[in-house]
Amino acid sequence: MTQASGTPSRPHKVVIPVAGLGTRFLPATKAVPKEMLPVVDTPALQYIVEEAVRAGLTEVVMVTGRNKSAIEDHFDRVPELEAVLEKKGDRVRLTAVRRPSEMADIHFVRQGEARGLGHAVLCAASYVGDEVFAVMLGDDLIDTRDLLLERMLEVQLQHGGSVLALLEVGLENIDKYGAVAVQPTKAEDVVRITDLVEKPPSAQAPSSLAIIGRYVLAPEIFAALRDTPPGAGGEIQLTDGIKALATAGLPVHGVVFTGRRYDTGDRLDYLKAVVRLAVERDDLGPAFRDFLVEFTGDLTRGDSAVAERSND
Ligand code: UTP
Repeated sequence: MTQASGTPSRPHKVVIPVAGLGTRFLPATKAVPKEMLPVVDTPALQYIVEEAVRAGLTEVVMVTGRNKSAIEDHFDRVPELEAVLEKKGDRVRLTAVRRPSEMADIHFVRQGEARGLGHAVLCAASYVGDEVFAVMLGDDLIDTRDLLLERMLEVQLQHGGSVLALLEVGLENIDKYGAVAVQPTKAEDVVRITDLVEKPPSAQAPSSLAIIGRYVLAPEIFAALRDTPPGAGGEIQLTDGIKALATAGLPVHGVVFTGRRYDTGDRLDYLKAVVRLAVERDDLGPAFRDFLVEFTGDLTRGDSAVAERSND
């Protein structure tokens, strides 16, 4: 299917870059990719693929690097393990083990060196071809009740071009993100993006709206990325490539997300994701909730004991 940018389309391909070094989570990520860290009992990356499939994106290409073979193994069959579970009659675990290899059509391309998110996306160019496609970051978890990707695909159908997910993070945090300059549109949750800048100092940020890990991109992004020199941190930035599209007058819109999102590559956000998802689970939730109530009670009592001691 060939599409020019701006032509209504229904994307079915998604690029998931997972070749980053995961330095914020060392030493855990020395040998284990951060995208494989379990959120309760499922790797973060499996939640991302579930989200893609739910939105109709069933052709997945993961951009991997060194130390990432655990990812390929997770999305492959394991006949020996399946045989053991089958023999035991453990249908529940058998289904869980088979699910990752059956949920989508998954391919892998290699990014030889971690030269940035823009470079990682460019590595998938020949697989994507001349189609609108999505990019999902392997460590960015969106609550399953928030249909962000579906909304972005809808906005792309309406406006054409590219659509980014945006989050209000406050000016004090914007230097960790790509930031955007925007104009309002008729829809309350949709803005037109007029400029983008990667990790700006807060005084120079065009707004406090940050780009988060979901993108629907026009195929023109590949030509733009080929012409993009290394930017912030010496890496080829996806933000700079998208800025080139906006500067060339191609439509770039943003969906302002107000739901729950966790950056599982960040230790504190990761812990929050594990607790939140565990509480909501039918099997673990009730017992874990009881534990948390008791534990927070202990913490509160501990805090007041400390306060009382310091008042003495
Ligand atoms: P991050 O900047 O969060 O990943 O990139 P990182 O570099 O692994 O993290 P830290 O800061 O060192 O802890 C966002 C996503 O882009 C991928 C990462 O795997 C992550 O999913 N990425 C980043 C690549 O695939 N290749 C790169 O060169 C850079």
